[in-house]
Amino acid sequence: MQLPKQLLQRKPVDALTAAENSLKRTLTAKDLTLLGVGAIIGAGIFVLTGIAAAKYAGPAIVMSFVLAGIACALAALCYSEMASMIPVSGSAYSYAYATLGELMAWIIGWDLVLEYALASSTVAIGWAGYLLSFLQPLGLNLPPSLTTAYLADPAAGFINLPAVLIVLMLTALLVVGIRQSAVFNFFMVVIKLAVIVAFILAGMGHVDSTNWADFAPFGFGGILTGAGVIFFAYIGFDAVSTTAQEAINPQKDVPFGIIASLAICTVLYILVAGVLTGVIAYDQLNVAAPIALAVDHMGMIWLSPIIKIGAIAGLTSVMLVLLMGQSRIFFTMAKDGLLPPLFAQVHDDFKTPHRSTLMVGVAVALLAGFMPIEKLGELVSIGTLFAFVLVCAGVLVLRSSHPEMERQFRCPAVPWVPLAGIVVCLVLMAGLPLDTWMRLLAWLAIGFVIYFRYGIRHSRLQTSD
Ligand code: ALA
Repeated sequence: MQLPKQLLQRKPVDALTAAENSLKRTLTAKDLTLLGVGAIIGAGIFVLTGIAAAKYAGPAIVMSFVLAGIACALAALCYSEMASMIPVSGSAYSYAYATLGELMAWIIGWDLVLEYALASSTVAIGWAGYLLSFLQPLGLNLPPSLTTAYLADPAAGFINLPAVLIVLMLTALLVVGIRQSAVFNFFMVVIKLAVIVAFILAGMGHVDSTNWADFAPFGFGGILTGAGVIFFAYIGFDAVSTTAQEAINPQKDVPFGIIASLAICTVLYILVAGVLTGVIAYDQLNVAAPIALAVDHMGMIWLSPIIKIGAIAGLTSVMLVLLMGQSRIFFTMAKDGLLPPLFAQVHDDFKTPHRSTLMVGVAVALLAGFMPIEKLGELVSIGTLFAFVLVCAGVLVLRSSHPEMERQFRCPAVPWVPLAGIVVCLVLMAGLPLDTWMRLLAWLAIGFVIYFRYGIRHSRLQTSD
């Protein structure tokens, strides 16, 4: 099908910049780094590391973290160049819309639902796991039918009620306009980091090297699949770019924040994964709260509730960022005419995109209630990896189509870094299970149907011509 020419036109960057209302510029490079760390550290390290080690990689999950970290670093360099070219709040969707045309933007925006909305559900399930493991020693137990998703265990489970409730509570907060302030974020990050560092330090002395004897029980294929799964743990560094309008010096500080937060998390993840699989045999780690299990295993009973509280707090802040990110992306897509206008409605009193937030919240809650965590996590990973492939490709396209545009941050060694980013992300995608691929393709197919039935007709580019 031949697309109408105007849909492939590049939208002038100035128009987008002018359309954004001005927010106060208060965030420094340090704030942005903390924001990134706040958005990154969550269910990936606190939950999925255990599952991935047990099922896919064994102790070689450490190598999976290195591999996924490399993929993210390459993508982060490309993200940074895009963010420094188009310093508006947004996401890969906004960058693509301003530079690569509407169809490409739609594909990225639709794909980002897998990253933001589904990751919120995944983190909610992780949150519920840590809450239950915190309550259990206090004698507070819920029946499995209320804590286990039907699709995770059809025999015993029905709904993961705590996961549903936390999503609905956070949705309500976002509707009335609780914005995550830099101060609140700072405390969350400090708690999370303290818990992670405490775990590493306490665990080091309890590492039993016999647990590493069978280092890569599932071979390189397992390391690859493990990398695809725990790639989830790195998602969120792009959240830094959503605050470009509140940064004092966005073109320099946003790339700094993206790369610094990623570097900090990579080091911490590798250490946590090493300690975790050193303290406890990898095949015991397929549980909802593996870090807490390892602490119990070390016999440090007093540390366990602290770790759990830290995880619960940390996961809450990740969910807030992700839920807010998703409703903002839908909001922007609706403003561009690609989604129905109700997604762009702003509440008279609260001044928030309440309908978009509510719809996202309900969908996320339903997924969290009924889906198994690893299936969701894998879908998030594949969707995000695909978005990264498109961002890396976008940098290559823009270097040739807009060589004159100012880039305060230039991705080094172009075309090699973006090309390597594309290859590594595709390799990680290839390691993910076939059913995850089928779900990704089905999701993209649904997206195309919506675009060609709705978006193409209601698009702002179309209607304003
Ligand atoms: N990286 C985030 C997490 O692990 C999404 O929860």
